Amino acid sequence: MSSENLQNMSDLVSLCKRRGFIFQSSEIYGGLGACFDYGPLGANLKNLIKESWWKAMTYREDVEGIDTSIFMHPLVWKASGHIDGFSDPLVDCKSCKGRFREDKIEINDPCPSCGEKDSFTEPRDFNLMFNTQMGAVEDTSSTVYLRPETAQGIFVNFLNVQTTMRKKLPFGIAQIGKAFRNEITTGNFIFRMREFEQMEMQYFIKPGSQADWMEKWKEIRWNWHLSNGIKEDHLRWHPHASDKLAHYADGAFDIEYLFPIGWDEMEGIHSRTDFDLKSHQEFSKKNLNYVDQADGNKKYIPYVVETSVGVDRCFLSIMCEAYRLENKGEKEERIVLKLKPSLAPIKVAIMPLMKKPPLEEIARKLHGDISKDYRVEYDTSGSIGKRYRRQDEIGTPYCITIDYDSLEDGAVTIRDRDSMKQSRVSLDKVADFLKDNLKMC
Ligand code: GAP
Repeated sequence: MSSENLQNMSDLVSLCKRRGFIFQSSEIYGGLGACFDYGPLGANLKNLIKESWWKAMTYREDVEGIDTSIFMHPLVWKASGHIDGFSDPLVDCKSCKGRFREDKIEINDPCPSCGEKDSFTEPRDFNLMFNTQMGAVEDTSSTVYLRPETAQGIFVNFLNVQTTMRKKLPFGIAQIGKAFRNEITTGNFIFRMREFEQMEMQYFIKPGSQADWMEKWKEIRWNWHLSNGIKEDHLRWHPHASDKLAHYADGAFDIEYLFPIGWDEMEGIHSRTDFDLKSHQEFSKKNLNYVDQADGNKKYIPYVVETSVGVDRCFLSIMCEAYRLENKGEKEERIVLKLKPSLAPIKVAIMPLMKKPPLEEIARKLHGDISKDYRVEYDTSGSIGKRYRRQDEIGTPYCITIDYDSLEDGAVTIRDRDSMKQSRVSLDKVADFLKDNLKMC
């Protein structure tokens, strides 16, 4: 049997649209740049990814999870450096009015959009934050920003969490939430969006211990991606050169994934020093010192190691990794999503061989029984072969067929997505079979 991995992004884009994973935002109006909607299967998979991250990051004694608001006091963004420094260098093409990031094009080449030579304006800084007005009166004093990262909601709650949960250093605060950036260069499907979701954790530590904690979190985060079924040779580290570090960092490593567009960033692990807390202390005038009882009541602002990953980029990497085209050009050609069973949006499909009352009766009863534990699809339309192919394309690990023999022997056929092997299992053993084989995490 021949098997090909995903060759180009467009095959995945068309599968996502065809099978209800991802749609363009406001599609019936022609779409909205770099915004996407997750359909029924996509929303399900996205939630499973978030659940996997939440468990890995907060089901531990030293990390608390929170959920903070998207709008924050405007001074937060002054303190964090985003108002003054969160910008990309922008150039316009004077001929076609196309806009480009200067660092993503060759400035001496013709415009990549219209081909005109020497057509670019001088680069200028373009702030990536979206803003809007809060309250009934529109003036500059009511300007608020849509957060460009979730991290600041964590920093401003450091004291609240530390005191209410009686935390001692080292400890972390984690959250999952939407972030917004008015990106200049978009495209590549959900790789770079203007509205996206982040899963971030700030780990508060004693100054001087950041190198050790960077190593520990690097290992934990790398292994999390492997646990989602990503192959190790599709991941690599990209250390940031010291002259390329963000304004807040004294060290940074990206986990890159081999997307169909090439190697690119999936997650960042950053040593953020005490930059953020120190700056929030200065702007808010609130004392954010930690009193270290384990070290003679010494007072200091904790250092921070941050892990920051985009949900959408995880989604993309998991889909790219799972996609297979088997037996290309042959009668048995199929697209199959070899998702880890714990991430499959639908765990089981139940298929009575024919729409006949005695078969449907058994199928409906089984559906009712196992739906209590798993997301189950009931499918009666088309030939069995077509129904299998439909489930393969969305990554359903098991299909259960009820046929006329089931009326005689009280057993059903369970077909495995990856091997396509079929086993006969007695109806009263189906729940055990699924429990053993789906290994939910
Ligand atoms: N708090 C640190 C921070 O936000 P970042 O490297 O700017 O760091 C972290 O972003 C992660 O968020 C990235 O590694 C990526 O997975 C995701 N991300 C950032 N911008 C994105 C965008 N425009 N679309 C989708 N994901 C994005």
